Amino acid sequence: MAAEGNASFDLIVRNGRVVTSRETRRLDVGIRGGRIAALEPSLPAKAAQEIDAGGCLVFPGFIDAHTHMGIPIKTTWSADDFNTGSRAAAFGGITTIIDFTVQAKGQSLQQALKERIHRAGGKSFVDVHLHVNVTDQPERWLHQIPSLIQQGFRSFKTFSTYKEAGMMVTWTQFRLILETVSRSGGVVMLHAEDDEIVERNTHRHLSTGRREPIYHARSRPAEAEARAIETAARISRETQAPLYIVHLSSRQGLEAALEARSRGTPLYIETCPQYLLLNEQCYRKTNGHYYITTPPLRRPEDQEALWQALCNGDIDVVGTDHCPFTRQQKEQGNRQFHQTPNGLPGVETLFPLLYTYGVHQNRITLQQLVQVLGTHPARIFGLNHRKGDIQIGLDADLIIWNPDQETILSSSHGHGRADWCPYEGMKIAGTLEYTILRGTILVHKGRLLADTPAGEIIPAAPPRS
Ligand code: URP
Ligand code: ZN
Ligand code: ZN
Repeated sequence: MAAEGNASFDLIVRNGRVVTSRETRRLDVGIRGGRIAALEPSLPAKAAQEIDAGGCLVFPGFIDAHTHMGIPIKTTWSADDFNTGSRAAAFGGITTIIDFTVQAKGQSLQQALKERIHRAGGKSFVDVHLHVNVTDQPERWLHQIPSLIQQGFRSFKTFSTYKEAGMMVTWTQFRLILETVSRSGGVVMLHAEDDEIVERNTHRHLSTGRREPIYHARSRPAEAEARAIETAARISRETQAPLYIVHLSSRQGLEAALEARSRGTPLYIETCPQYLLLNEQCYRKTNGHYYITTPPLRRPEDQEALWQALCNGDIDVVGTDHCPFTRQQKEQGNRQFHQTPNGLPGVETLFPLLYTYGVHQNRITLQQLVQVLGTHPARIFGLNHRKGDIQIGLDADLIIWNPDQETILSSSHGHGRADWCPYEGMKIAGTLEYTILRGTILVHKGRLLADTPAGEIIPAAPPRS
């Protein structure tokens, strides 16, 4: 490891154990102009500002590849906007969020992107990238896809469910999107649930008066996830177009994805902390309706299968699907599963949970943690020229983690708008000392130091032809 140019730095982080996707090593990190400029065992130079990270782990600032800040769901809006959600992200060691456009009826993909950029611009404390939702009249807007990819937006999200919300694409439309996106070097993402299975089960339960939260899980069985993955993966194999399955939740879904991959389907898998750490018993709690999220929480054997897949390296990315609602919003559905706004908070707890229940409990290594929260999402979504690891030339997005000081998760310590926490009372094996975004200290010991939100929209690099 070496220094870039003559040594004089804006900031040096000294004495930390630096965790990259390849190794963990005692190094000093020299930062200049918002980028990592040197990585050496002992930097002789001085800097305008120095941080002693002795006894701490220094990680790259992490990426949450799946957030929904302020989107319409049922009769309300997810509670965090880019301002409050990004503040929560910063307190959780996330320095880049990847959110989604919202395509209104009749609106073009380009117009939806413009609107979303406008909504995020100047509001976010962390950097932002966007996936492009394709939910309305895909055929009409396919021609915009190559230009969007050239502009730096190369991931396109589809849904095989949510017909009632007007978001579902048919499998014929899905094939067209896949072909068009992959021709220009992009990737298609899929919320995979077979809508026929979901509709049939939902109707069966509602028509017999079963409206308690557990019937959310019964209405959207693992089989629905597996069937949709099978169909999508077949189309992806036939077209040799890469496919990214978002929020994989079940053993059956996992088996379908791995089977497809073994037959040559270019497929990426994302799961979320809620599917690793929570299960459908949550729906039996007195506040069971708070836990309504889609896909639903599953059974303990599903959690076990997902942990196993994460350990084996079969899961590429852990994102959160951050889509919080306040207790009051969750009550708006009268505790009936089909009326309750679906989604959970997660952006602030992603890294602490994965560190504690993954690394600290010896399920995954520090390097695997950096891969699923850093290098993999950065590579898949074309951000690896800036983000995802600690390397000379990359953005100086760092977090400094003290592994010796235990913390307890609680909504009263959260920084987003959700006034409850799905992981209330769970222990965390460490505490966040610093979050640094492009060389500027954003959070220090529980205090936000930035006066104004300085997060930028980060475009992807153009795909290699
Ligand atoms: O229930 C959830 N997860 N709400 C957010 C939208 C989605 O399906 O990802
Ligand atoms: Zn989804
Ligand atoms: Zn989502």
